[in-house]
Amino acid sequence: MLALKFPVFVLAAFIFFLTGFAGFTQTTDDTRTQTGGAQTLEDILARQRGEVVDDQFRQDAIGNPDQAAPIARQLGTLGGVADPELWRAFRYGTTDIISTDPSPAGNVVIQDGGMRWLSWRNGPIRTYGGYLLLAVIVGLAAFYAIRGKILIEGEKTGETILRFRLIERLAHWTMAIPFVILAITGLSLLFGRIALIPLFGKEIFTPISIAGKFVHNYIAWVFMFGLGLSFILWVWKNLPAKVDFKWLIAAGGLFSKGVHPSAGKFNAGEKIMFWMVMLFGVIISLTGLSLLFPYQIYFFVPVLEAANSLGLPGLIGIAPFDTVLAPQEEMQYANLLHIIIAFIYIAAIIAHIYLGSVGMEGALPSMTKGRVETQWAKEHHDLWYEEVMVKSAKEPPAE
Ligand code: HEM
Repeated sequence: MLALKFPVFVLAAFIFFLTGFAGFTQTTDDTRTQTGGAQTLEDILARQRGEVVDDQFRQDAIGNPDQAAPIARQLGTLGGVADPELWRAFRYGTTDIISTDPSPAGNVVIQDGGMRWLSWRNGPIRTYGGYLLLAVIVGLAAFYAIRGKILIEGEKTGETILRFRLIERLAHWTMAIPFVILAITGLSLLFGRIALIPLFGKEIFTPISIAGKFVHNYIAWVFMFGLGLSFILWVWKNLPAKVDFKWLIAAGGLFSKGVHPSAGKFNAGEKIMFWMVMLFGVIISLTGLSLLFPYQIYFFVPVLEAANSLGLPGLIGIAPFDTVLAPQEEMQYANLLHIIIAFIYIAAIIAHIYLGSVGMEGALPSMTKGRVETQWAKEHHDLWYEEVMVKSAKEPPAE
């Protein structure tokens, strides 16, 4: 009896396996018919594998109030639309909703760009930005170890000449001090959760981050003022000149002792630095204002529209930019650009601070006292030094 039953069991198992396998290999459309138009297991698995599943087939599955069970019947009060159907209608913009929130972002109920923003901010941007800052610090330490401090090479005269007037120094520090505070508070907002909480604990980090955000938002205005004033005072002295190319070819003599290419009031390196400070300063200020006044000041849409109207995408062979952005998307892009620019800006300023202080003998007094050793002026800014000498010969100093 058992001998008879065994082959029947094997056959039954084989048929069961075949039908089961056939079930799995059915085309997605077939299985969707079986699920009444809902997602299939294959759809879910594909999404888990990170594949993009075209779910347009579900966009009409938004329920039908006309088919709701009459109110007197069991479950009648539930209506004809289930929660998933309602959310689906939100997603595909087919529901007729009126938002009681009058802000521009009030009628955007689902905006899935938020996850993309978060993963970029907390992922590659934060990671590579952090590495960039570390690389600059390590690079400068190596430069210092190899090249040492750039010293005044000729004999010091003991005499000084005026390099920056009081207003110029005020402009510089009104820009520089807030920048350093902005950098520290900004980085603590970005790295706080992963770096400061493990270090100090949540109780200490909470007031630090609240104060940091407050300071960051308000001191930005002082930075913008200093940036504007520095632009007005120094723009003419930072226009490119022929001598700048020779300075760049000699890399400013930074890497070789005894080499001092000619330079005017500002050398080519300082001019590049000036224009970078201004360009990045404007971008970081505009994106910052956009974040400070959510849904009131937009950065991306006007920039993209201007680029389209100038035909810029066509010049590089791409289609015009899509200028329809959800208000939240504006904020997300503004935030990402703000952080990216901040990292490059801070990296460049670390190098600037190094050269303006420990890296070069005789540079710092120009921004503190306003005067520099004449030998320093002759070595680093010979054309400017001659200009000042000619001027002072023509106009004897006032009694
Ligand atoms: C906080 C530490 C800083 C120190 C010690 C420092 C030092 C100096 C010094 C010594 C100079 C004059 C160089 C010369 O005589 O040719 C200078 C110029 C300048 N600094 Fe700073 N600086 C600092 C921060 C900043 C920051 C944060 C910014 C901008 C965000 C900045 C932007 C400038 C600009 C635009 C100039 C004019 C010369 C140029 O075009 O490079 N500085 N700085």
